[in-house]
Amino acid sequence: MLRALFTAASLLALCAAASADTTLLSGGHVIDAERGTVLKDHDILIEDGRIKAVGRAGTLGASGATSIAMNGAFLLPGLSDSHVHLTSRSDIHGYRRLTVSTARAAISGVANAEKTLRAGFTTVRNLGAPGFADVDLKSAIDSGEVPGPRIIPAGQSIGITGGHCDSNLMPYEFRETGGGVADGPWAVRQKVRENKKFGAEVIKFCGTGGVLSKGTSIGAQQFTLEEMKALVEEAHELGLKVAVHAHGAKGIASAIEAGVDSIEHASLITDESLKAAVKTGIFLSMDIYVSDFILGEGEAAGILPESLEKEKIVGKAQRERFQAAVKAGARMAFGTDAGVYTHGMNARQFAYMVQWGMTPADAIRAATIGNAELFGLTNDIGSLSAGKRADIIAVTGNPLTDVRELEDVDFVMKDGAVFVNELAQ
Ligand code: ARG
Repeated sequence: MLRALFTAASLLALCAAASADTTLLSGGHVIDAERGTVLKDHDILIEDGRIKAVGRAGTLGASGATSIAMNGAFLLPGLSDSHVHLTSRSDIHGYRRLTVSTARAAISGVANAEKTLRAGFTTVRNLGAPGFADVDLKSAIDSGEVPGPRIIPAGQSIGITGGHCDSNLMPYEFRETGGGVADGPWAVRQKVRENKKFGAEVIKFCGTGGVLSKGTSIGAQQFTLEEMKALVEEAHELGLKVAVHAHGAKGIASAIEAGVDSIEHASLITDESLKAAVKTGIFLSMDIYVSDFILGEGEAAGILPESLEKEKIVGKAQRERFQAAVKAGARMAFGTDAGVYTHGMNARQFAYMVQWGMTPADAIRAATIGNAELFGLTNDIGSLSAGKRADIIAVTGNPLTDVRELEDVDFVMKDGAVFVNELAQ
């Protein structure tokens, strides 16, 4: 009996090895995001979750493969977003957030992860979640329990007492403190180590005040240069990249000097800091869509009046500095702060990036190969080439002509598995 079982098991294993899981996406137009060109009428062969070959239609000799007709749709690498908060909801802001437990936030995260994936975003950096809920969400997705994008989780955002990454809504009696609060170089190093211990794969810290936090000022630097340097050194030593939340000029300049990998928001970046960013290759992750949501729907969602006032100043300035950054040739990520606005609408930012100085190809590059470089994942994602993970999306119109095509994605594959297919078969 045991022997029979063993034989059956080895037979099964043999079969699996002999017939690898292969899929052919046939008859699409493949967008080369790196060059901004289109390869007309091409097929993509996928084997065991990775791209095996890209070639002219009908030339890949894929006998035995499951074929999926692309019907002349435009194929692109799965999109990525360098700044999301999957466990946050856009209709729960300000004091309403105090009613949300970590477990409840994680449940929202499950729903938001699926929305994000279905919108064509196959990889995201989750820049801050309470109680490491993003690490758990990642684990549930990676084990196949729930659908969602590949997540690079930051765990708890690190920040000073009373800063943007603290929780400042309650009076003293409640002793309300954000999980990532630390003051002083050694305390900050300890937080980095703790984040690593509990599963963070990137470190997020707050280097200036913010829009949505109570009582913080956009222009004020948070952490001293000494603390920032300690944080970055510790993170890099542990193999983690560092993303800094920074709106104001001084905090941005200090964070660049400390050696961070990306500046999130970068709203008031000076020409001098732009030069430094170009020189060092630091990425700017400028969320220039979200302002429309905050000023349009923010009040009804509970955003504090003081935050609305701050946004009126920051939103417009950030778009102008985005344009300056594009002109200066800075490396641009695609980061949106989804969670502040509604998940699944990430692609709305493309049109804003084009309106403020990018070509559609530049904007697509930011969300594909650009982010892949920032994430350190160029072997896996960011382009449709042999060897990379089969993260592939399709839209029916050419996004190089009209980038808004990406707001309605018709096909989504992640790691070779199809999650959306609305193309006519
Ligand atoms: N989480 C950010 C903050 O509170 C949102 C900033 C949004 N505004 C903007 N213009 N990007 O500071």
